[in-house]
Amino acid sequence: MSFNNPLDTLYRQVIMDHYKNPRNRGVLEDENVEINMNNPTCGDRVHLTMKVEDGKIVDAKFEGEGCSISMSSASMMTQAIKGKTIEEALALSQIFSDMMQGKEYDDSVDLGDIEALQGVSKFPARIKCATLVWKAMEKGLHSQE
Ligand code: FES
Repeated sequence: MSFNNPLDTLYRQVIMDHYKNPRNRGVLEDENVEINMNNPTCGDRVHLTMKVEDGKIVDAKFEGEGCSISMSSASMMTQAIKGKTIEEALALSQIFSDMMQGKEYDDSVDLGDIEALQGVSKFPARIKCATLVWKAMEKGLHSQE
């Protein structure tokens, strides 16, 4: 990917920071939701564990192998959903999906570092990398409903 303007450079730094210093990497020992998901286009995988209590995501961790986009997205996603209700996390996932498809998205929600992935929408081949962990989260949370 090429990043040419200062905002792209900033976003790139945020992505690389999450890739090199992933937040919430590992496996929860007291999880009650566990999902494995592969990106069929490259074979990379993510393993997501979450602890959901009273409709709220109390904790989340991920591990896996993948490119900088998929792993930084996992780091950002786990950071963002902790403390959120299932509904809030699924709503955030919808916003992320809209953002990846280059659609208008609800910008009333503070996306924090997630915004750094915005540019991925211009690279269709990488969208599946960015959405891999979000799809895993959605699948896991739907199993709780
Ligand atoms: Fe495999 Fe990105 S290249 S997840």
